[in-house]
Amino acid sequence: MTRRIAISTHKGGAGKTSTALALASGLAHQGSRCLLIDLDPQGHCAPGLGVEVSTPTLKEFFQQHPTLPLRSVIIDTTVPNLHLAPSDLGLAWIAESLGGRPKREELLGRSLRAIEADYDWILIDTPPNLGVLTQNAVAAADFVLIPVAPDARANNAVEDLLNVVVELKGDTFSGWGILLTKVDARKTRSNSVIRDSLGNWKTRVFRTVIPVSEPLNQAQMAGRDLFSFDPKSPGAIAYRDFISELHDSL
Ligand SMILES: Nc1ncnc2c1ncn2[C@@H]1O[C@H](COP(=O)(O)OP(=O)(O)OP(=O)(O)O)[C@@H](O)[C@H]1O
Ligand SMILES: [Mg+2]
Repeated sequence: MTRRIAISTHKGGAGKTSTALALASGLAHQGSRCLLIDLDPQGHCAPGLGVEVSTPTLKEFFQQHPTLPLRSVIIDTTVPNLHLAPSDLGLAWIAESLGGRPKREELLGRSLRAIEADYDWILIDTPPNLGVLTQNAVAAADFVLIPVAPDARANNAVEDLLNVVVELKGDTFSGWGILLTKVDARKTRSNSVIRDSLGNWKTRVFRTVIPVSEPLNQAQMAGRDLFSFDPKSPGAIAYRDFISELHDSL
């Protein structure tokens, strides 16, 4: 069965893209067939993998929907088994113009049905807002992964996103979890404040914690996937552990 995971929070810089890239490339290195869908108009996934983007992208997919099949925007990456549906800055404008369409939050999910047999995992990176692109990701996903970095008010962002999840999936939907990212082990006080602020959601927090790990940043700047760039770095080890935990818990 194909797993569809949206990686989402409207808090900027929480580690959505880094997590999407690490999960997609880590799973692909393990032999799973992966598709990474970049729904963020900032388009950081392609350069993070060193991939050149040409049209059509997801911008044209949404703009021309339902004429242009999703398959036609999917490209290979340098990582075997990993395909990418790249973004474009213009996707931000197209998203705004989707406002009048009926069921506009279902456009991606419906289109995935035609291609999902080709993949074991579909990972969806989302922008730092709760607009129609994030809604498409949540609606299409069977699991919503919420990265939380140790910043003030991180818990508010979780609550806002969960409201969207309930709106789109109903209040019995339980396919979501929190991944603590960018954790500096030396900042014990801040770390425990963040954990405490998650209150009842603490049971939803994955055991694996992603530490601050500079190679994560460097790999993206070099346009390389983390696992070939620095497979022994603390970030790569943590994301590998997280993939195992995810396998066990889904
Ligand atoms: N574990 C980590 N250790 C060190 N740096 C990290 C880590 N995770 C992410 N970063 C860096 O933090 C910055 C923000 O991360 P990232 O782009 O993944 O967040 P985001 O949630 O996708 O941001 P946005 O909301 O802008 O889309 C990036 O420069 C990234 O390289
Ligand atoms: Mg991002």
